[in-house]
Amino acid sequence: MSELYSQNFPHLSPVWTRIFPIEAERAEGSYIYATDGRKYLDFTCGIGVTNTGHCHPKVVEAIREQAGLFLHAQANIVVHQPMLRMIEELRTIVPPEIDGFFFSNSGAEAVEGALKLARSATGRQSVIVFTGSFHGRTAQTMMLTTSKTGYKGSAQYLPGAVYVAPYPYAYKLGMTEEQAAAYALEALEELLVSQVAPHDVAAILIEPVLGEGGYVPAPISFLKGLRELCNRHGMLLIFDEVQSGFGRTGKWFALEHSGVVPDIMTVAKGIASGLPLSGVFSSLDLMKKWPTGSHGGTYGGNAVAMAAGVATIRAMKEEKMLENATARGIQLQTGLRKLQEEYPQIGDVRGLGLMIGSEFQVDGTYKKAKDLVKKVIHAAEERGLLLLSCGTYDSTIRWIPPLNVTEAQIADALNIFSQSLQQVL
Ligand SMILES: Cc1ncc(COP(=O)(O)O)c(C=O)c1O
Repeated sequence: MSELYSQNFPHLSPVWTRIFPIEAERAEGSYIYATDGRKYLDFTCGIGVTNTGHCHPKVVEAIREQAGLFLHAQANIVVHQPMLRMIEELRTIVPPEIDGFFFSNSGAEAVEGALKLARSATGRQSVIVFTGSFHGRTAQTMMLTTSKTGYKGSAQYLPGAVYVAPYPYAYKLGMTEEQAAAYALEALEELLVSQVAPHDVAAILIEPVLGEGGYVPAPISFLKGLRELCNRHGMLLIFDEVQSGFGRTGKWFALEHSGVVPDIMTVAKGIASGLPLSGVFSSLDLMKKWPTGSHGGTYGGNAVAMAAGVATIRAMKEEKMLENATARGIQLQTGLRKLQEEYPQIGDVRGLGLMIGSEFQVDGTYKKAKDLVKKVIHAAEERGLLLLSCGTYDSTIRWIPPLNVTEAQIADALNIFSQSLQQVL
């Protein structure tokens, strides 16, 4: 570690969990280079952010160009071209029903905005979320987050009107996907009879692929059921696509796998390849029910972040990154399933595109797998591969390489993973 590190790192707030002791110097494509000369194959993507790889040349060039024009021009004061271009690009990749766009800076902010919009539009207060959800760490989004108590610390805010229904997590429930979907829909219907009346519910908020909660795609029949339930009761359906959006699942948005169009979607992370940008998208008709001036922000829709966003979408299109994500995802899942045959401790392999989870079990339960997962991640890091865990019990290793990862890099990662398993098990 550098002297800069040893003198200043101790002053960094320990509230940030530290996963790896790496001092990064630079990064390019699928790799991070540390100050000690080590090179890491980065299958974390800054938690699903650098979907075009680190420092994609087209994104870097767009940032440089915009930085030379202006850095910031506040959205209430002027309308700028990077924002208009971003809307133009977004309209080519979202469902046609979604034609209204609001921008902010982080995923949590987008979720906060989506809830304000839903409450304004319906005049109702309550919201239903699902077990294992992660929607952020601001005061409101913490109350919507159920994946770990640790995210809240001892700061317990008033829950407001937040209700929690079971996510159709088939592996955890010991069911098939269809059984899990039927079970979860029934539980939700019961919640609407026993705990909160539908006419009090502004929105049902769900991650179409559970992210921090374990990398679990929701069964299509479940999402269709939610859509039908929302239509029936005038509740709004919000898809939080902060982690699953922008090509991560091999489609522009995870919603395309089910064909279910939500009333509101939230996005962030992969949208701008690493610059802070997020969005609340819905139909313009719905947006018009959000009183002017009742939401906003100084930095939302920052010009440099927007320029990065435009370049990100164009690079993904030009370089066919979604197609690559699908092909490399199949390669990765096939490799992981092969390893599962060898190591029964891998209980489940699942996912869409390059949003893949491999869940571990010890003594027949995922609840005891945390230490094992930690050891495997550490062994992989020592061999130059960065992986993250997720799930309420940290029993799942998630695989989030860049969407332009190569066949050889996936093979390398599988090789390192196999060696790591061999060492630990
Ligand atoms: C689905 C989802 N929603 C919201 C958030 C919060 O985003 P941010 O950390 O940018 O506030 C995250 C972050 O991991 C997420 O995965």
